[in-house]
Amino acid sequence: MGELTFSIIKPDAVQNGKIGDILKMITDSGLKIKATKMIQLSRVQAEGFYAVHKERPFFGELVEYMISGPCVVSVLEGDNAIKRYRDLMGATNPADAEEGTIRKAFGASIEANACHGSDGPDTAAIEVPYFFSSLELVN
Ligand code: CMP
Repeated sequence: MGELTFSIIKPDAVQNGKIGDILKMITDSGLKIKATKMIQLSRVQAEGFYAVHKERPFFGELVEYMISGPCVVSVLEGDNAIKRYRDLMGATNPADAEEGTIRKAFGASIEANACHGSDGPDTAAIEVPYFFSSLELVN
């Protein structure tokens, strides 16, 4: 089994009808989708998920944005999946993202930046079980 990483297709991308395009970019890159579901985050869930950013000035707006509409959360698998998905997403700010990345194609701003991916093995190990039980991951 390869490495696991956690992905969110954020409310702007869902609202803009980009779920299919983004999942296609993920699978075309060779990453496997182990689980996926559409959810409406509660305020408590969003605050808990982004707790590491609690002291940042953008925390309040980030939470409001993440609960503004449904998200698609997924677990991805592959060799080196964490770095591969970060490369596929591109820079946090879509203005800095390279051609061919998800954020370049679908991101509107640093906040409405289309997607989230785990930034390392420690965060992936927290983020995957935050939204999925082991029974929900296909083999
Ligand atoms: P994400 O990977 O989901 O992790 C935290 C998010 O905060 C980040 O993507 C951005 O969408 C969002 N964010 C909003 N403002 C900023 C900022 N000034 N710097 C970094 N991240 C920001």
